[in-house]
Amino acid sequence: MARPTARTESGLPLEPVYGPEDLTGWDPRTSLGRPGDYPFTRGIHPTMYTGRPWTMRQYAGFGTAAESNARYRALIAGGGTGLSVAFDLPTQMGHDSDAPLAHGEVGKVGVAVDSVEDMRVLLAGIPLDRVSTSMTINAPAALLLLMYQLVAEEQGISGAQLTGTVQNDVLKEYIARGTYIFPPGPSLRLTADTFRYCREQIPRWNTISVSGYHMAEAGASPVQEIAFTLADAIAYVRTALAAGMAVDEFAPRLSFFFVARTTLLEEVAKFRAARRIWARVMREEFGARDPKSLMLRFHTQTAGVQLTAQQPELNLVRVGVQALAAVLGGTQSLHTNSFDEAIALPTEKAARLALRTQQVLAYETDVPLTVDPFAGSYAVERMTDEVEAAALALMRRIEDMGGAVAAIEAGFQKEEIEASAYRIAREQESGERIVVGVNRFALEREEPYEPLRVDPAIEARQCAALARLRAERDAGAVSAALAALRAAAAGTRENVLPPMKEALRARATVGEVCGVLREVWGGYEPSRSAH
Ligand code: 3HC
Repeated sequence: MARPTARTESGLPLEPVYGPEDLTGWDPRTSLGRPGDYPFTRGIHPTMYTGRPWTMRQYAGFGTAAESNARYRALIAGGGTGLSVAFDLPTQMGHDSDAPLAHGEVGKVGVAVDSVEDMRVLLAGIPLDRVSTSMTINAPAALLLLMYQLVAEEQGISGAQLTGTVQNDVLKEYIARGTYIFPPGPSLRLTADTFRYCREQIPRWNTISVSGYHMAEAGASPVQEIAFTLADAIAYVRTALAAGMAVDEFAPRLSFFFVARTTLLEEVAKFRAARRIWARVMREEFGARDPKSLMLRFHTQTAGVQLTAQQPELNLVRVGVQALAAVLGGTQSLHTNSFDEAIALPTEKAARLALRTQQVLAYETDVPLTVDPFAGSYAVERMTDEVEAAALALMRRIEDMGGAVAAIEAGFQKEEIEASAYRIAREQESGERIVVGVNRFALEREEPYEPLRVDPAIEARQCAALARLRAERDAGAVSAALAALRAAAAGTRENVLPPMKEALRARATVGEVCGVLREVWGGYEPSRSAH
């Protein structure tokens, strides 16, 4: 007797057997299209990895700029094809390393960047006209982008030559990650100002990476992940249109960021469904005409929350399966987690194995040699349709609430994600959801593992560097530049990035620039009325 119908992570049916009867009315010529053709179900390029492998972009950063620069050079030397900068929490929250709030967090979850001087050290010896750099920075994304551009200009590299991405997705910070600074209104203004500035000054830069990853890590199901992410993206598009930009002026430089879970089949269906939804939204709702405006280009990170501290080497297998899901799903860029990340910051060896995992997929398997090999699969095509339908229904609920920002302020996404997270936890506790090495096949006694430790002297070194910077810079020039920024932020018409750039050039610090914006725009405290 066949096993009863299982359920996917999104709670959709997963039949023991699929056949032609599951795809009635489905015609590959109309339902699917070819790779590189609208609505891009099979991938955004006709050749995909047969034309260019995905970017191997390992997220890294800790300590001072010098330590992180050494890791970036090692990653590039080891075959990494793109940079991905992790910043410490003080930087992400717009505080200087010597701010009281920063104590104990300096250089911990990422690199400390207080000023353009740190950015200069961070990028030393890296060819910015040839390497694309992703920066995981949200509320102060504009500052880090401008410091990146200032350092490139010092090297004689123009904005037109720069490629990379800032995450710059503050809406998901209100929902799941928490590194927001300003209220939604001013945050979205800063997002639109950044779109316009890049359009004019850094045209090949990806201005935003609308992220589902962190919502997934907080418990969102695949359907919730893409529905909430695409709803956020729609809010950003509407913001830019309201700021007077034409959709094809900014949409080609929107990008996305998703997770890849161990449940490979649903993940492949999820990526294919997300591409199709986004293409139709951009053409039908926003009238985009440039094909690049219709393409959902995304980065994937393997699911950190699925790594276990128990028998950590098992995570090498999990990451391999998750990375395979991302590749079969057509990702443009990929980060593979290190097997020891559930324990502490990755060691050098663990980081290397993570990159090697991608290289095995890229150079030893036959998966990159043909585009979207799951096309026509009874199971994956049916799952793609079902994930798409469920995500569209959830997006309609958000639309009925007034869109992503209104839903966020009502606490909707947060509550939906918490409910999913609770279901997953209950299933793990009951043993219904097996976690190998944890609730099944566990060891009597775990073998010891020596993780990497962050040097506590980092904070003292970083604060000493800040004191020197403040002593050496032209204080009058800094004050004047900050006053000009304050005036621009207080108005509604002027793009705040040009005066922000001049302040950073004069070596104003991240904390000082964000401090001026906090004074003008205020900070953000989520209303508790939502719960
Ligand atoms: N045929 C034709 N052209 C092709 C091609 C093909 N088969 N494959 C690639 N190309 C072209 C592309 O069109 C592009 O050309 P363009 O520059 O003219 O647009 C060029 O080759 C480079 O390709 P991609 O742009 O696809 O690859 P990139 O790696 O440069 O960009 C991206 C990928 C998703 C668009 C970009 O936004 C990106 O790199 N994102 C990364 C985001 C990231 O790393 N985030 C990390 C977050 S970590 C985090 O938040 C988690 C933590 O909090 C825990």
